[in-house]
Amino acid sequence: MSDTNILPEDGFYVLITGANSGLGFAIGCRLIDEFLQTHPPSENLILIITTRSERKGSDTIVQLRKHLQKVCEQTARTAPGTSSKALQQRVHFRNEVLDLTSLISVQKVAKRIRNSTPKLDAIILNAGIGGWEGINWGKAIWSILTGWKRAVTYPTFKKSGVGWTTKPQIPASADGKKVDEPPLGEVFCANFFGHYMLGHYLAPLLAKDIQRDEAPGRIIWLSSLEAYGRSLNLDDIQSIGSREPYESSKRLTDVIAITSTLPSTAASVNSYLSCSTQPSSSSSEKTTKPRLYLTHPGICGTAIMPLPWILQMCMFAAFWIARLLGSQWHPITADKGACAPVWVALAKQSTLDSMERGEGVGKWGSATDWWGNERVERTEVEGWGWGGKVGVRRKNLSGRSPTAKDLTEEGKIEFEETGRRCWREMERLRVEWERRLEKAGAAVKMDPGV
Ligand SMILES: NC(=O)c1ccc[n+]([C@@H]2O[C@H](COP(=O)([O-])OP(=O)(O)OC[C@H]3O[C@@H](n4cnc5c(N)ncnc54)[C@H](OP(=O)(O)O)[C@@H]3O)[C@@H](O)[C@H]2O)c1
Repeated sequence: MSDTNILPEDGFYVLITGANSGLGFAIGCRLIDEFLQTHPPSENLILIITTRSERKGSDTIVQLRKHLQKVCEQTARTAPGTSSKALQQRVHFRNEVLDLTSLISVQKVAKRIRNSTPKLDAIILNAGIGGWEGINWGKAIWSILTGWKRAVTYPTFKKSGVGWTTKPQIPASADGKKVDEPPLGEVFCANFFGHYMLGHYLAPLLAKDIQRDEAPGRIIWLSSLEAYGRSLNLDDIQSIGSREPYESSKRLTDVIAITSTLPSTAASVNSYLSCSTQPSSSSSEKTTKPRLYLTHPGICGTAIMPLPWILQMCMFAAFWIARLLGSQWHPITADKGACAPVWVALAKQSTLDSMERGEGVGKWGSATDWWGNERVERTEVEGWGWGGKVGVRRKNLSGRSPTAKDLTEEGKIEFEETGRRCWREMERLRVEWERRLEKAGAAVKMDPGV
């Protein structure tokens, strides 16, 4: 961890995972821009970024500082009387090293943050991997030529690795003896489970004081348009044997986030978000639990699909053509893709609450018009529609998933039941892993009272 400043107690604290590249870096930049535009000069932003190494973290902070300086100088030029230096002093950075495929790494980082940070207002769970081994080029060319927009929005030509698991979670003993442990799906752990555990450990920092009428802390998930219902198999929830582990992890993300406010999941959600590590049991009665929110960035050209330079250029060209053909789901640049998660992080609680009261809990996506002007757009979720309201259908159905169906009562009941089962299973898995690490003497104990 590198503390670059003494952090103000009352700042706006945001954590972003995987902030060194693609969408994570863009979310950091966009948060700086929008925070400075929308918050009064007395308020500070504290960005806690996570990367996979100290070097990546410090390089990222250098780049974020450069961005901050550029933005502040621009603002100072266009708004007379504004000091670039004063603006820059309102943003503070901190770096943490986190590997989401190691539960011990998740526990270590959570402990450090809990011991060094007064609170958190939002955590943006962005980091992730595709788990792809390549592309089926024949299928790619055919599907793009016969249905351009659909092929580059809901691709069917990526080849996923099957059977990928993480390195052992429990280190071998000094005499080299390995401890028996069940496998953890790698894509599942990087995209979902590592974040799930992190959210649990950071929940006490995200809990807010009811009496001070503070907005609940936000756990903001990054999902995808490719979160198909068919990809998630509850008998292989870690998708170790699946041909669509990425899609499965994103569908699980959708199901967990959307159903987190339903009465049927309350027992599991309460145990997940409980502040039971606090010494006084009455403390949980005085706090508002954090809220889970679901976002996705549309389709952006990033390193998540590693390609040689020339093919990257072809990918960008294909995305531009899709936008010109009317695709709203092609922000293309990470900066525009960051629109929805940043909006959810900074929106007033009253805005989010009144939108959810009207339209239901939803999935917030980054979209653009033909000219590339970005906006936040509600996105259909299989089995939930646009907000869990049967009979509600959008006028504009362009960009709809080829597997989407109008929401029915039966479909919604099934979705809610899937949510209940997923929550129960994730809580079971969390507790099981915590016990296993503890028994092996490898667990990192959280300090009580934090
Ligand atoms: N790009 C898109 O079109 C798109 C569409 C829908 C959803 N998304 C989602 O957006 C998120 C960001 O993706 P991206 O496109 O920006 O990809 P990216 O450029 O590859 O960034 C992924 C980030 O996650 C980090 N990461 C990977 N594995 C990790 C692990 N085990 N522990 C900790 N950090 C890890 C990477 O760190 P390293 O640099 O060290 O590898 C990197 O910082 C992902 O959740 C992705 O599913 C992207």
